[in-house]
Amino acid sequence: MSAMATHVITGAGAGIGAAVARRLLARGDDLVLLARDAGRAKELAGEFAGARTLVGDLAEPDRLSWAFSHQSLPERVDSLLHIAGVVDLGPVGDLTTRTWRHQLEVNLIAPAELTRLFLPQLRVARGHVVFVNSGAGLSASAEWGAYAASKHGVKALADALRQEEHAAGVRVTSVYPGRTATAMQEKVHRQEGKTYDAARWIDPDSVATTILTALDLPRDAHVTDLTVRPGH
Ligand SMILES: NC(=O)c1ccc[n+]([C@@H]2O[C@H](COP(=O)([O-])OP(=O)(O)OC[C@H]3O[C@@H](n4cnc5c(N)ncnc54)[C@H](OP(=O)(O)O)[C@@H]3O)[C@@H](O)[C@H]2O)c1
Repeated sequence: MSAMATHVITGAGAGIGAAVARRLLARGDDLVLLARDAGRAKELAGEFAGARTLVGDLAEPDRLSWAFSHQSLPERVDSLLHIAGVVDLGPVGDLTTRTWRHQLEVNLIAPAELTRLFLPQLRVARGHVVFVNSGAGLSASAEWGAYAASKHGVKALADALRQEEHAAGVRVTSVYPGRTATAMQEKVHRQEGKTYDAARWIDPDSVATTILTALDLPRDAHVTDLTVRPGH
């Protein structure tokens, strides 16, 4: 990828997304960070000096197009990094439509809509779309139904998009991390009733390294899928 590439990133405020944003900013790339609201955008602009922000709530994908029509969008997008996500565990017997819908909106429909909105810029740049998926996107365990369904859905989105955009030179990568030491994983442990020990899980910076490896490969190579598991 050329110097001064422009990356649109969701989820840069925490966890894996923050690790990716720090690494890209440190090497001088241009960042456009999606924030859920204006207050969060201000915090992100303070945290990542020189980054631009875009306001859009991923829990309301129907409104993203309207929200962006009132903001200036980057003219060039070399990569669109879908990293934001939400999780809520529970058995199918207890999960409400509200819980189902929230995970499907944030984890699946919003990435689809964001991809649609940025595809013209991605095609011009022969850019790269990265979906941070999950082991739960490949197999579903008890109590993970809604989250796993959203992640299985985003696998389908990525696989279809890869075939559709191949001729346009747009690359599509899915990354499937195992348990990673972030606030999301702390919540999962609370919901599982387990004690959380960050040292047991993948460092978010290692997931960032994986994502950057896929992004930085020369054009002769296209990493389609990467599974990353805890090493100990
Ligand atoms: N941690 C794991 O064990 C693990 C394993 C496999 C896959 N993953 C996946 O990795 C990705 C990143 O997870 P993480 O562990 O880094 O999570 P995290 O620390 O909880 O961070 C999630 C990020 O998503 C953003 N976000 C959530 N809802 C949003 C909304 N409605 N609008 C805009 N932004 C929203 C959050 O914004 P705020 O900062 O404003 O809250 C935050 O920046 C997710 O897709 C997750 O499913 C995580």
